[in-house]
Amino acid sequence: MEQKELKKLVSAMSLEEKALQLTQYPVYELDESAEAVVTGLCDLGGIDREALWHTGTILNAPNGETVQSIRKTRREKGISDPFPFMLDVIHGYRTIYPVPLAMACTFNTALIEDCAELAATEASCDGVDVTFSPMVDLGRDARWGRVMEGAGEDPYWSGEVGKAMIRGYHRGGIACCVKHFAGYGAAEAGREYNTTDISERNLREYYLCAYRACLEEQPELFMSSFNLLNGKPILGHKEIMIDLLRKEWGFDGVVISDFGAVEELHEHGYCETGRDCARVALSGGLDIEMGSSVYASYLPELVRTGAVSEAQLDEAVLRVLELKNKLGMYENPERNTDLQKRDEVTLSKSGRAISRRAVEEGSVLLKNNGVLPLKESAKIALVGPFASTREIIGNWAGKGRIEECVPVKEGVEKLLQRAVPYASGCSWKLFDTDESGFEEAERISAQADCIVACVGEHMMNSGEAHSRADIRIPEIQRKLIAKLHKLKKPLVLVVFGGRPLVLSEVEAFADAILYVWQPGTEGGNGIANLLYGKAIPCGKTVMSFPRSSGQCPIYYNCFSTGRPKKQDMPSALSGEEWRTGYDDEYNSPLYPFGYGLSYTEFMYSDLKLSAARMKRGGKITATVNLKNVGSRDGYETVQWYIRDLFASVVRPVKELKGYEKVFLKAGEERSISFEINEELLKFYTDGGEYAAEKGAFELFVGGNSRDCLKTNFELVD
Ligand code: GLC
Repeated sequence: MEQKELKKLVSAMSLEEKALQLTQYPVYELDESAEAVVTGLCDLGGIDREALWHTGTILNAPNGETVQSIRKTRREKGISDPFPFMLDVIHGYRTIYPVPLAMACTFNTALIEDCAELAATEASCDGVDVTFSPMVDLGRDARWGRVMEGAGEDPYWSGEVGKAMIRGYHRGGIACCVKHFAGYGAAEAGREYNTTDISERNLREYYLCAYRACLEEQPELFMSSFNLLNGKPILGHKEIMIDLLRKEWGFDGVVISDFGAVEELHEHGYCETGRDCARVALSGGLDIEMGSSVYASYLPELVRTGAVSEAQLDEAVLRVLELKNKLGMYENPERNTDLQKRDEVTLSKSGRAISRRAVEEGSVLLKNNGVLPLKESAKIALVGPFASTREIIGNWAGKGRIEECVPVKEGVEKLLQRAVPYASGCSWKLFDTDESGFEEAERISAQADCIVACVGEHMMNSGEAHSRADIRIPEIQRKLIAKLHKLKKPLVLVVFGGRPLVLSEVEAFADAILYVWQPGTEGGNGIANLLYGKAIPCGKTVMSFPRSSGQCPIYYNCFSTGRPKKQDMPSALSGEEWRTGYDDEYNSPLYPFGYGLSYTEFMYSDLKLSAARMKRGGKITATVNLKNVGSRDGYETVQWYIRDLFASVVRPVKELKGYEKVFLKAGEERSISFEINEELLKFYTDGGEYAAEKGAFELFVGGNSRDCLKTNFELVD
């Protein structure tokens, strides 16, 4: 439909119709008898249930049949306006692949894209038109439960992951929404919904990068975040929501609020009345109000009294109609809803295969003294609270069904074609104290050649509203692991978590640690393939693993500080009173950003530069020799980091500037090259411009952010 026709539709609407066009409620609110789903029945505020049939869009999509029925009812009510259904399809729709944090650890954008396309295809056939994904909030604090949904602590890589997800969603036929704009991941103390205070510099250099990068793939929506930023709720920041997002970045899609966030302007102590909430949100650039009704209650009157202009209201309504037009819904209101195709594509073999590959490539091998891969002939004892549970699909698992998820025990027994001794040992509850299951776990372990303990945090202990102040493996499990260690048998820990958990107290007990995050529907099969070497671990962690919760936030691209750690010993041990960060803890993480082992070994050598000096506008090429010096084929993610040694504002000790995932057969070697140009060296200088400053730089290359080869180069005018 031409834009002028859309404008005609807008001008034909009453003020009340325009306000409802900008209102979004959950689908179950349409049915008074609906049981109060997860968030409970909403407070409809100033609108009645009948009005909900006239909103412009709707949240959640139960299934294709219900979507079709709701659209039919709207037609019978004489409503011709297309009605997009929006849902959180975060890491799969019915075939659930690993949580986004694990997907980011694959360093495989093609696989990320394929998984997103799979999710979009399953979802769009079942009535979903828009997903509230990708979430690209920078995740530096593992106490925050929502690091699970993001792509970790690096701004550049978070953007690459978000872009790949958008490409996949678009290939699969749904629109997408970049969230949560902005800075939600900087919640103070990692506490959910807590205040954020981010300098302009840190916003620009770190927290905004990934949202900005996602624009390259034309997302249709942005979602404004819950958090207070620098003293104002995000909807109070016109300089971000309008001047930056719309004017500087040129985003012309729809901005939707997070659930209830408009009404929460009152809770924040920013807007005294609902009327103020509506006025501030609309003039702050918000188009759709999700989960509350201050727009419907107050916008008509605000326009009539001149407090907001009808032109501003029309602009927002037009963007919503443009979204529907982009979705092709004026020509085809049902879009991709196709129940027959849905039944063909859902939980397909090929979909499960992609999901399984994501488990294999996203899991991170943190430790292995040679006990892995296991021999199929080995007599194992499978223990721990996550050995046989299907509750490993992760939080925000769309329409994924627990009963469709493959647990570790099932995956291992299918691979071995025999039953394996199993005992849970304890529950996965955070504060469980019941040790009665230990005895059975110890008994079967004593009779085994190797113990495989499946431990960690439950999938509902991460995700929204699941921050944790103590991110260790729960105490009951730590006690079980200590008991098992006393049996002096090889001990493999398979660890589940929606965040990097603190493993310091169990690391020494383990002969191997395979970190599987929340692996999704094919979890058990993928993990079995990794344990027995049918797949070779290649994941690289995209978040630093803290040694203790007290280190959070901890991230690799930090500043040197005036008193950098001379050595990494707690001063209580080193005796140095002031040259380290803590008296009782190392400064460094247990495992650094980019870290992950394989079943083979890779050696880096001969790092060279085509020139030691680079002129502005020029480029130099780095090469390094990579050799698979182990006995198995495998993938290595080569990581290139740069440090700007001296600048008008201090620069991080390392910044990821490029990577290459390389497959090498055992014994094979290859020269890997990387082009350095001036663009890679730019930052927001003290003068406020985005530019590179001449001077000395260091280039690092390695299989993680800590163990690197290093060389130097210079940027000259
Ligand atoms: C939630 C989340 C957001 C999600 C929205 C709709 O509260 O913060 O990520 O997209 O509500 O479910």
